[in-house]
Amino acid sequence: MNIIPAQRLPIVSLQQAGKSYGKGDSAVHALKDVSTEIWHGEFIALCGPSGSGKSTLLNLIAGIDHPTSGHVYLLGQDLNALSDRQTAALRAESIGFVFQFFNLLPVLSVFDNVYYPLMLNGYSRKLAQDRVMDIINKVGLGKHYRRQPGELSGGQQQRVAIARALVKHPALVVADEPTGNLDTQTGREIVELLLSMNQQLKTTFVISTHSLQLRDMAKRVIEIEDGGLKNDFIIA
Ligand SMILES: Nc1ncnc2c1ncn2[C@@H]1O[C@H](COP(=O)(O)OP(=O)(O)OP(=O)(O)O)[C@@H](O)[C@H]1O
Ligand SMILES: [Mg+2]
Repeated sequence: MNIIPAQRLPIVSLQQAGKSYGKGDSAVHALKDVSTEIWHGEFIALCGPSGSGKSTLLNLIAGIDHPTSGHVYLLGQDLNALSDRQTAALRAESIGFVFQFFNLLPVLSVFDNVYYPLMLNGYSRKLAQDRVMDIINKVGLGKHYRRQPGELSGGQQQRVAIARALVKHPALVVADEPTGNLDTQTGREIVELLLSMNQQLKTTFVISTHSLQLRDMAKRVIEIEDGGLKNDFIIA
């Protein structure tokens, strides 16, 4: 067995990763030959026009999809070599998700929405309670933990989704246009919250966005165009 020091191992490594939908003349090459690495503690904005391949790339990074060419290594494991079940287990343990439309469970309280991923991992409510309340407090919803999503504003609902993504202490959080459904001011507050979680908890974030604001606040920007890497730079 090869032992590699953890800090030398990227969370995700893409090696000429590509993704095509369909076959033959009608195939759509959504992603072509993308090679890059994502390291612990990064805060990355993934930018590019509509249809450029941002969601496709996020789905590969998070192990939701397998590449149709090249390789994606998630925490050192080649996704091509894992079964769907193994990939799902790796994902459940290591990755948190935030979506444009929040995807909360409407009949559950804020507390139970955040507790849900821990419940799936076998934690009792009692054992999970402090951890759930701690993250609900961190996202600024301590007073509202009994409410249901329908009783919250869009920005507050996204805060619940962020708490749900973070409660497992994942190595990586991927967010697909998390401010896309929010007004500018609320979007800014959500980006500030994500940045603050990145600083406090050292969680790694990859966030697809059309927002120039988010792009300006990121520490690294990956730009894609027509499924290819156009720019990949760090903002010093
Ligand atoms: N399931 C699918 N089947 C066929 N083509 C797909 C599928 N999913 C995405 N595509 C195509 O792949 C390309 C990239 O799509 P993707 O959703 O990754 O773009 P995006 O950058 O996330 O766009 P947006 O900013 O609008 O969300 C597009 O041409 C899209 O039509
Ligand atoms: Mg998209």
